[in-house]
Amino acid sequence: MTLTIFYASTTGKTEDVAQRLATLLGGNADLRDVDSLSSAEDFCGVDAMICCVPTWNTGADSLRSGTAWDTYVEDIPEISLAGKPVAILGLGDSSSYSDYFCDAMEELYSAFQAAGARMVGSVPIDGYTFNASKSVVNGRFCGLPIDEDTEPDLTDERLSAWARHLQQEMAGQLS
Ligand SMILES: Cc1cc2nc3c(=O)[nH]c(=O)nc-3n(C[C@H](O)[C@H](O)[C@H](O)COP(=O)(O)O)c2cc1C
Repeated sequence: MTLTIFYASTTGKTEDVAQRLATLLGGNADLRDVDSLSSAEDFCGVDAMICCVPTWNTGADSLRSGTAWDTYVEDIPEISLAGKPVAILGLGDSSSYSDYFCDAMEELYSAFQAAGARMVGSVPIDGYTFNASKSVVNGRFCGLPIDEDTEPDLTDERLSAWARHLQQEMAGQLS
């Protein structure tokens, strides 16, 4: 089984968090920069994936990542990922962008769900302070929000708890 952590990053924070997550998963995950992909079909070649995305483009209706993810978000629903486990991790700033906290997670969540993926890794909103986020789906974050701008001291704990949770949800595919 192969687990791939896909990431895209503008100022390096999402890349750093993706690397820390890979370490936490004990070296069982490959890291891949979305910039290096040639088409959305590249997502079909892995058994399970974690997709790490920052939010930029504040207030826009779509293409909120402002990274290479925006190139693929409209094509992902057209591929077939039937039953493949997919988790989303988002970087954002819950203080300066409290009305749009980690909005880009929801775009990837919806796109991969439309491709038939088995979406895992949702997180309770408790413990986060923000006004609004498109990434709250049915009362939970659709992935793991990380705030390296104003809550960097919470990142290790959030990543560790999520990694443990994913290992259960992905039922052995991470070990
Ligand atoms: C111009 C600008 C716009 C941003 N817009 C948002 C936003 O709408 N929502 C949010 O949660 N964070 C927003 N952020 C915060 C970034 O998502 C955050 O700094 C993130 O860690 C950047 O990740 P990266 O270094 O991987 O690109 C914004 C930051 C900047 C500088």
